[in-house]
Amino acid sequence: MEKMEQPPHVVFHTIPAQGHIKPLLCLAQLLSEAGLYITFVFSHHFRKCFENLPDLSNQSPNLHFEFISDGLPDDHPRSITFDFFYDIKTKTKPHLKDLILSLNTRSPPVSCIINDQYINYPLEVAEELGIPSFTFCAHSASFALTYFIIPKLIEDGHLPFADDDMNHEINGVPGLEGILRRKNLPIFCALPDINSPDFQYFLNGTTGMIPYSSGLIINTFDELEDQSLPQLAKHFRKVYAVGPLHAFLNSKIGKYGSQLIGSHISLWKADQNCITWLDSQPLRSVLYVSFGSLINISASQLLEFWHGLVNSGHPFLWVIRPDVIFSEGEQAVIPEELKIGAKEKGYIVDWAPQEEVLFHQAVGAFFTHCGWNSISESIMARIPLICWPQLYDQLISSDLVSKVLRIGVELKACDRSTIETTIKTLMETKKQEFQNSVNRVANSAQDGIGQGGSSNQNIEILIQHIKNMKLN
Ligand code: UDX
Repeated sequence: MEKMEQPPHVVFHTIPAQGHIKPLLCLAQLLSEAGLYITFVFSHHFRKCFENLPDLSNQSPNLHFEFISDGLPDDHPRSITFDFFYDIKTKTKPHLKDLILSLNTRSPPVSCIINDQYINYPLEVAEELGIPSFTFCAHSASFALTYFIIPKLIEDGHLPFADDDMNHEINGVPGLEGILRRKNLPIFCALPDINSPDFQYFLNGTTGMIPYSSGLIINTFDELEDQSLPQLAKHFRKVYAVGPLHAFLNSKIGKYGSQLIGSHISLWKADQNCITWLDSQPLRSVLYVSFGSLINISASQLLEFWHGLVNSGHPFLWVIRPDVIFSEGEQAVIPEELKIGAKEKGYIVDWAPQEEVLFHQAVGAFFTHCGWNSISESIMARIPLICWPQLYDQLISSDLVSKVLRIGVELKACDRSTIETTIKTLMETKKQEFQNSVNRVANSAQDGIGQGGSSNQNIEILIQHIKNMKLN
């Protein structure tokens, strides 16, 4: 009897962070819809993110989940720090390798591995087992490019930094003209000794394995980052700009359909009651406020936000994650009049169904920390942004949003008065100007994921690339 042809088998592995898992799951589901056999690998510790996941076995029969030990003790904090990356590199790697060897005996042989840019042990495993691999980048091309210009910055004397002025602009870097400031570089660039093991580890960790990778898959689109993408492409065999992935998946499967895995996997359960509250608000009147899944704010910052939001006079929907406040002895004591103000004008939740919120007709602006998913989701919903970037790629993304794309404004200081006036600028005086800009960018994103669009074509080429790998 003739043997049934087995589909190409793609293994996904990423760091345990909401903002990375979501776009990668969207990509996994898109590839599974195209007939590829997918295994998504999480650690046992991260399994809790599946709490709210519906049973998808009927809708996505090609998509499988496997769980491995991350090799860390139960009491390890697993917060996303330098130490965490050191630890998982050695401790998780053997477990991933064992899993792939086992998968080869009980499913179609693994054709390639797609791994998160911030961990290179999956690339090492792929190399050791003779399997091709791709690198996935969950943030902008602009930020990805900053890693590759570091040797040149050292050569030109920009690194180590000459002084403490983190706003200092660095000019003349192709692809990053107008948006490169010291603080926009990867965090380890602030280390004073560029020869230190930490500096070298993080530089080589992210760029050193790239020659082994068959290409970079990135959650952006050609028209959004037409300056940085061509420069980034010089460092990889191939770059596939396939974003915005959440919108791509929505367009294939239907908005917020029960079968949308990327939108369902969440660290917290989304409070759907906020949609009922939004239903009662006037058109485009509500400011949505959320700082993503990772950053923490101080109790005093929280209070400034509370004042600024209430004083702006605009209705607001505010996500205050249960773990958002870092409390070094500080207690957030919210005065009674603010609580009353928030009750009259606002709605506060632990976690929101963000994509659905942004598409709600009552929402008029998004106050964000500039996580790349939040920016992409806001663009697709045609919502202008107020940027309050804190860490990592968020800083350069804020410059991209406010200076290049002009679809939002950056909050210049985190005090109640600046917060109030910035909200009024975006939602009153310059409302139409920003709305026009975000409409323009959203249209090009929509074109990109549509038939014949750049992201659409890139994903087709990627799928073909993977299929060819299987044949070889
Ligand atoms: C992290 C980094 O911080 C960010 O800089 C990087 O670009 C991606 O990884 P995170 O901080 O969580 O991400 O922000 P973001 O990229 O915006 O991702 C948050 C995700 O959680 C979004 O997809 C958003 O829809 C979802 N979310 C957020 C909810 O579903 N509900 C919420 O209440 C808040």
